[in-house]
Amino acid sequence: MRADLIVGIQWGDEGKGKIVDLLAQRYDVVCRYQGGHNAGHTIVVDGKKIALHLIPSGILNPKALNIIGNGVVVSPEALLKEMEQFGSLKGRLLISDKAHLIFKYHEMIDKAKEALRGKNAIGTTGRGIGPAYSDKISRQGHRIGELKDTRKLFEKIKEYFRTNEAIFKAMSIELPGDDELMGELELYRERLLPYVTDVTAYLWELMEKNKSKILLEGAQGSMLDIDHGTYPYVTSSNTIAAGACTGLGLAPRDIGRITGIAKAYCTRVGNGPFPTEEFGEEAERLRKQGAEFGTTTGRPRRCGWFDAVAAKYACRLNGCDDMAIMKLDVLDGFERVKICTAYEYEGRKIEYVPADLENVKPVYLEMEGWESVEGIKSFDELPRSARNYIRTIEELTGTRVAMVSTSPDRADTIIL
Ligand code: IMP
Repeated sequence: MRADLIVGIQWGDEGKGKIVDLLAQRYDVVCRYQGGHNAGHTIVVDGKKIALHLIPSGILNPKALNIIGNGVVVSPEALLKEMEQFGSLKGRLLISDKAHLIFKYHEMIDKAKEALRGKNAIGTTGRGIGPAYSDKISRQGHRIGELKDTRKLFEKIKEYFRTNEAIFKAMSIELPGDDELMGELELYRERLLPYVTDVTAYLWELMEKNKSKILLEGAQGSMLDIDHGTYPYVTSSNTIAAGACTGLGLAPRDIGRITGIAKAYCTRVGNGPFPTEEFGEEAERLRKQGAEFGTTTGRPRRCGWFDAVAAKYACRLNGCDDMAIMKLDVLDGFERVKICTAYEYEGRKIEYVPADLENVKPVYLEMEGWESVEGIKSFDELPRSARNYIRTIEELTGTRVAMVSTSPDRADTIIL
């Protein structure tokens, strides 16, 4: 059986958590394939807010098994803290032995580099994600499966410290002493190793048996993809659907339905181009109504109108079969709403995403707003202007809208 996939098609924070949580009730296995604890899903169930960073959202379905793939970078400290919320996760969580580890020094390098970049800072989450992926790519990372032999891992890390000594010194990064490091590794071995396995082989077996429904959960959004996003203002992993193959060891033919998640407007945290960004009263209103503050860092998110050019690009990159439009209710009460239908670029009107997105100006379609859609559960009950808004998004992106969310609650979702 093929695995279905959920992917963010904007700059992250699209509300994937709610959809994955909603769908996770119908899936036996939920997998994360990239990113780390830079991600953050806030899920509201029966009015209670739960924030997840590393553990897949399937954790809220007591029957689902949750998998952290090899493409994820794992901070043992962050993972253990998150696990504490749930009691025993035996039989409910598996971690790939090939997933790379994030240590405190990665976080320190991340912060030090951001400070050195000054006004050109990426605006990272400061969680050490970039440095951990850099170590992986430059073949000096450490994998979670290596916790099996802590003495050997300890020696390897010490060797890493020696070869990178000059860098650590230049950045005034204090490294852990031997006892501290060994103590940490022992703790991680004891607490995490029981969950560590070859998840690729495990998934292949499940797929061969053809009995389990598998959901793959992307983190961040397509516009933050290391290859296809707004480089260098991106995260350090492949956030698009293709990342699910490398991040879990699946073949492209193992992927079934792909659903792109977008908000009814746009947000972005950190720096980098954002063509439809608003700065005045309307941005403030979106931020307030949408509670647009980061789950991971608490930073206020930059807010603006729906960008159909970027969404269409992301739908193509991911091969989206359909889309879910989240937080439609945040646009409640706006007299007029806007959708970006094209960009002005080098004196021309274009309908694609150029590599230098910072040099475009949005071309807008203005539409009539609506009073309220909050809590509406059927498409036909939406005000005419809101239906029109959704149909226009479908037309402009060439992708069917399969779900519309009208409040943070799991129940307030229109299924089309
Ligand atoms: P990093 O992933 O911490 O290296 O940050 C790189 C960029 O990705 C920054 O602009 C972050 O704000 C952004 N980013 C990382 N994770 C998320 C997320 O979960 N949602 C939205 N933006 C994110």
